[in-house]
Amino acid sequence: MKALVLGNLNYHMLQALQKAGVEYEDHNPLELYLYVSESINGYDRVYDGRAELDKPERLKIKDFDFILPRLSGQLEHRTVILEHINQNLGVYSPQTATALKTASNKILTTLKLSQAGIRTPKTVWAKAPAHPEYIIKNMLDGLPIVVKTVHGSQGAGVSILETQLSANTTLESFHKCEIDVKMQRYIDGGFKDIRAIVVGDKVVCSMERTANKGDFRANLSKSGSGRSIELSKEDQEICVEANKAVGLEHSGVDLMKDKDGTTFAIEVNGNPGTKIIDVTGVNFFEHLIEHCIRKAGGKPKQSAESDGKSSQVATPVVKQMPTSLSETDQALADLKAGKKISEYWY
Ligand SMILES: Nc1ncnc2c1ncn2[C@@H]1O[C@H](COP(=O)(O)OP(=O)(O)O)[C@@H](O)[C@H]1O
Ligand SMILES: [Mg+2]
Repeated sequence: MKALVLGNLNYHMLQALQKAGVEYEDHNPLELYLYVSESINGYDRVYDGRAELDKPERLKIKDFDFILPRLSGQLEHRTVILEHINQNLGVYSPQTATALKTASNKILTTLKLSQAGIRTPKTVWAKAPAHPEYIIKNMLDGLPIVVKTVHGSQGAGVSILETQLSANTTLESFHKCEIDVKMQRYIDGGFKDIRAIVVGDKVVCSMERTANKGDFRANLSKSGSGRSIELSKEDQEICVEANKAVGLEHSGVDLMKDKDGTTFAIEVNGNPGTKIIDVTGVNFFEHLIEHCIRKAGGKPKQSAESDGKSSQVATPVVKQMPTSLSETDQALADLKAGKKISEYWY
């Protein structure tokens, strides 16, 4: 089996590819040339267009059994390349371009969750909210409210508005600056939320995150802390359904619980962060690659499930992770060069 890693290859993914015995090529979609032929029988192509090459090199697309997208940043160009290789050239991907774009858009995600009958906090979307007091009091259960920019991630673009004056002036500023935001009821979840990784129809690991002191956002990238937890069957189902609702076969789903224990789906991340791997000891890429191998008609060497590496039967792994960015780069380079994973991780 051979995988096309589209986007950022990280060492956990590399470790999982090596463990599964899957060959790979990794390409930055921004360095690929998309070629559409004039033939009505197909023959579309992709070229490696890295500047250091004397001439573009054609990618042997037929050699790839599946795509592993790891797309971050502006998705527009990146997802066109994904769509081309996935839909025009027929290589299986657990994440389609359309689904990734839906997941990256916080209002489209809310609509899809609602369409699928999944509970999400009361949300108002308005281009020019001329009645902020009415909206907050009558539609969002009063102050505080949460506002989110449509394409934010890692907590950036998510704010809390605690007074009517700050709400009025902030919403006016967003409107004048032409920044689209959604307004949402504030869920009093004790500054905690849940991140669960879904692969196919399973939650493979999950953690509870607690916001850093002085913040309400529990993102680990905002210095929140995480601990491995086991989700109830009902919450696992919500995650699996949320992943499906946006059209993905793999994602990181965020949940929140209010004081009476009601669960709300907050968002679906197409490019979930890898810190959950350190927190839970579960390398979710192993599950993802196994899923892709099966979808591509192959047989996984060893099942990540039977390996005991699901959080629901979590066995924390003793690791010696690279600690700095340069160490991480070195580790990735060594692994690519074929050095043994065990030198770094066990
Ligand atoms: N409606 C809400 N009420 C209270 N806290 C919220 C609400 N929505 C989000 N949060 C907090 O803010 C964090 C970031 O919000 P989220 O919608 O997941 O955006 P991002 O893509 O930036 O992670 C969540 O992890 C959660 O801790
Ligand atoms: Mg989030």
